Amino acid sequence: MIHTEKLTRTFTTGKQVVEAVKGIDLDVQKGELVALLGPNGAGKSTTLRMLTSLLPPTSGTAKVAGIDVTKNPAGVRKKIGYIGQNPGAGYNYRVWDELRMQGRFYGLSKDEVSERGKELLSTLALEGMELRKVSTLSGGQKRRLDIALGLIHSPELLFLDEPSTGMDPQNRANLWEHITRLREERGTTIVLTTHYLEEADSMAERIVIIDHGRIIAADTADRLKAQQAGDRIAVTVDESDVQLASEVAANAGTILDTTSNTINVRVEAGDRTLPRLLNALHNKGIDVLSATLHQPTLDDVFLNLTGRSLREGGDA
Ligand SMILES: Nc1ncnc2c1ncn2[C@@H]1O[C@H](COP(=O)(O)OP(=O)(O)O)[C@@H](O)[C@H]1O
Ligand SMILES: [Mg+2]
Repeated sequence: MIHTEKLTRTFTTGKQVVEAVKGIDLDVQKGELVALLGPNGAGKSTTLRMLTSLLPPTSGTAKVAGIDVTKNPAGVRKKIGYIGQNPGAGYNYRVWDELRMQGRFYGLSKDEVSERGKELLSTLALEGMELRKVSTLSGGQKRRLDIALGLIHSPELLFLDEPSTGMDPQNRANLWEHITRLREERGTTIVLTTHYLEEADSMAERIVIIDHGRIIAADTADRLKAQQAGDRIAVTVDESDVQLASEVAANAGTILDTTSNTINVRVEAGDRTLPRLLNALHNKGIDVLSATLHQPTLDDVFLNLTGRSLREGGDA
């Protein structure tokens, strides 16, 4: 569905040159859900804006749904849905009028707009809101309307730029329910950005980590976590047992460090290794005072790759 080669975008404002995206090679298969992760300013939105044909690349190429974004931007736009980072502005009308105008813009007939619009309002839990002015909707309802507007022409490919930012946990959960259903019912291919690492971790089939305009890692969340961070077990024993316990622990994995009487071990499949390690320690007559299993997050992955935390950037 998406194939890019060395996709690059440089912004020049006055004398200042910002290399926002520096040669991105990205492939997305039909039906995939891919999450772009990265700190603020990494180049995620710029990448999406190039893929959606809203911003011409400085160099490199991108094919979206088989169409070259530079050669045929209008063709690309017919195939895709795009919900930008800060839309919602300029919705002055009633919910149904916004949907109708958007549908007509994409060349849908009146009947098509009516059928598709009703279906979307129902899927996105906006039934009964047809005549409400958009300005009176809650934040979550507005964001779901954004999504309905992005879907009115049944795109096979959907781009969402931080769809859940600013939503409360309940609305985020609802939104994800709708996204999941869309995929199940229509096989929609989805590329999105998010600040919520747990969301990307649990929902995306593939994570693409972007930093300073470059892809620094791309894989499933599980593989990234296993390769870049790995599980860690910390066992605390009596000081007199530390030496022997370290020898036992060294059989379970790689000792990272020992701080006073706590031994930190890098292990594989921590959930299965932990009970085995505890057994082995017990068999040597060692009293385990405490044991904890740390399973890595995508933030640990980013930290390992860059030395920085993704969370430091905040939620701006
Ligand atoms: N229209 C623009 N003019 C100048 N600089 C821009 C413009 N759009 C984005 N940038 C810069 O490009 C970089 C990447 O921005 P962006 O793609 O929005 O990052 P992200 O979405 O990952 O937070 C940032 O340094 C940003 O300031
Ligand atoms: Mg952005």
